[in-house]
Amino acid sequence: MRGAKTMWRSDFPKDTNPARFFLFSSKPHIVPAVISIVAVVIAGTLASSIPYVFKLIADAGAALATGGSFDALFFACAMYVLFLLLAKALWRVSGFAGMRWSNGARATARQTLSSYVTLHSRNYFSNRFAGSIANKISHATSGMHDIVDLTLWNFLELFVSIIVSFIIAFFVSPLIAFIFLGWVIVATALNVYFVRKRVPLSAYVQRVETKLTGMTVDLLSNITAMQEYARRTFEINRIEEVIEERRRAGIRNWSYGEYVLIINNVLQFLFGSIMLFIAISLMRTGVLSLGDIVLVITIIFRIEGHLQSLGSNINKVSNTWGEIQESLREIIEPHEMPDSTGATELMVSKAEIRFEGVSFSYGDIGVFGNLNLIIQSGERVGVVGRSGAGKSTLMRVLLHHHDVTNGKITIDGTDISKVTQESLRRAISVVPQEPLLFHRSISENIAYGKPDATQKEITEAARLAEAHEFIERLPGGYDSLVGERGVKLSGGERQRIAIARAILKNAPILFMDEATSALDSESEVAIQQALSELMKGKTVIAIAHRLSTLREMDRIIVLDQGSIVESGTHEELVKAKGVYSELWNHQAGGFLQDVLV
Ligand SMILES: Nc1ncnc2c1ncn2[C@@H]1O[C@H](COP(=O)(O)OP(=O)(O)OP(=O)(O)O)[C@@H](O)[C@H]1O
Ligand SMILES: [Mg+2]
Repeated sequence: MRGAKTMWRSDFPKDTNPARFFLFSSKPHIVPAVISIVAVVIAGTLASSIPYVFKLIADAGAALATGGSFDALFFACAMYVLFLLLAKALWRVSGFAGMRWSNGARATARQTLSSYVTLHSRNYFSNRFAGSIANKISHATSGMHDIVDLTLWNFLELFVSIIVSFIIAFFVSPLIAFIFLGWVIVATALNVYFVRKRVPLSAYVQRVETKLTGMTVDLLSNITAMQEYARRTFEINRIEEVIEERRRAGIRNWSYGEYVLIINNVLQFLFGSIMLFIAISLMRTGVLSLGDIVLVITIIFRIEGHLQSLGSNINKVSNTWGEIQESLREIIEPHEMPDSTGATELMVSKAEIRFEGVSFSYGDIGVFGNLNLIIQSGERVGVVGRSGAGKSTLMRVLLHHHDVTNGKITIDGTDISKVTQESLRRAISVVPQEPLLFHRSISENIAYGKPDATQKEITEAARLAEAHEFIERLPGGYDSLVGERGVKLSGGERQRIAIARAILKNAPILFMDEATSALDSESEVAIQQALSELMKGKTVIAIAHRLSTLREMDRIIVLDQGSIVESGTHEELVKAKGVYSELWNHQAGGFLQDVLV
């Protein structure tokens, strides 16, 4: 199996320049890319030569009146059919090859970005919306498709048409050819000028659109609050204001496009008239034939169509370009927490954990300052403390989601910052504070830490976690899907699935963050049994607000503002009359089993 880091090729440019990313994504698809480009160039040349064939037809037709041969007309018509046939066939070749290039580049881009983004740190994801990252990946990848589409079948075709038309026109009349060239240059320059002026308008439309999507997502995620607080009218009005803003911005942006079209039409009228006028004058002096007039008219007709859409195509490509750049800027940030160079695989034998003078802060928010803690091999340590004391953070730094600012954390004497994060995390089972589940079957969710687990093992783990019964009651049993983030399950059911997952993973270190907080007392008592089994022979850190759940622990530590203020067994701490005993007194009587102490 390929390791996560080899999922993208080593030549991944990791820079935000859309051109370089496009070249990178196209590289594996070079064969269809070259075939489609060659096909477009030849087909474009043939199609642009058709005005010349029309000239031949018209001249041969005119010659008939003066006794010319019918063969010449027949020959010219046959040439037209042949050119048409060949050009059409080559357009389809370009279609078949181009779609391989376009879909291939899109796939390479998505594969690379999806793989790259999964190596970002927890911090990266805490600062961004998952939906927005997914959107950025989609924009960058569909951008690859749009660029192939626009360059191949618009810009390249236009470029070929201009060159070929210019050459043909040049042989008829250099003067007409240069006026034609003047038209192309003026039209291109004006289109580019107006596109640039339009950029802020388009960007504004994009911004309002993003705002609208963001508001809709925010509203839908909080739909229960809206319903329960009866604020529907308020929400609808709030969103309607932005919808109106989007409507007006859309009209302004589009109107601009219409003005550019008018300018293009005026140019076409002006230059087309001049070219025709000169052609007719030259015909009067006998320099040009009827066929030449037909040729000039057909060129004007053909090129006008292309130039007409030049403005909107440049606009499209500049929007796409901006979107790709914006997306890459967000995704291709350097990984905040790469494995250190020469990182080794963590080997765990005793599973002894040491925090040695550890300091840590989230930006400016200090959490730990000089934290020292030794957890012996096989020791079970309970962690209590007020909300925000840093309990979950203790787990995050141990899992190396964040680098500590000072000091070090070791497992069996090895500094965890010197080992690969994968090997570290393989050694630790986590039951998180708010377990989220994949929208996959229950079986897959339970087996997440042991992908090769048999159904029997999965069921056994679920049984131990007191989850088997409720899973069996679900319509699909172990194959049931649990909804996005597991929303179709109750909080307690999600916790039991998370416990089953940890049981099955069976790692030497177990970290439980409020693992049973959402369970009723009865289930909790039942599950304590399973947890005792699970904890056997493992080094355990268990965080709990409900102190009764920690009574089995070998030691309990009390965290306050990132320092350990008390440490000892439950009995010792109750006697010590400190923070713990105060917390305990608050809770005593609140739970049946607490009273039984
Ligand atoms: N990603 C983050 N960025 C910035 N600050 C954070 C982040 N996560 C947590 N904090 C802050 O760090 C402090 C410790 O948070 P932590 O989650 O460790 O608390 P806790 O002891 O687990 O609390 P609780 O009992 O409520 O779960 C809190 O003040 C919290 O606001
Ligand atoms: Mg917490």
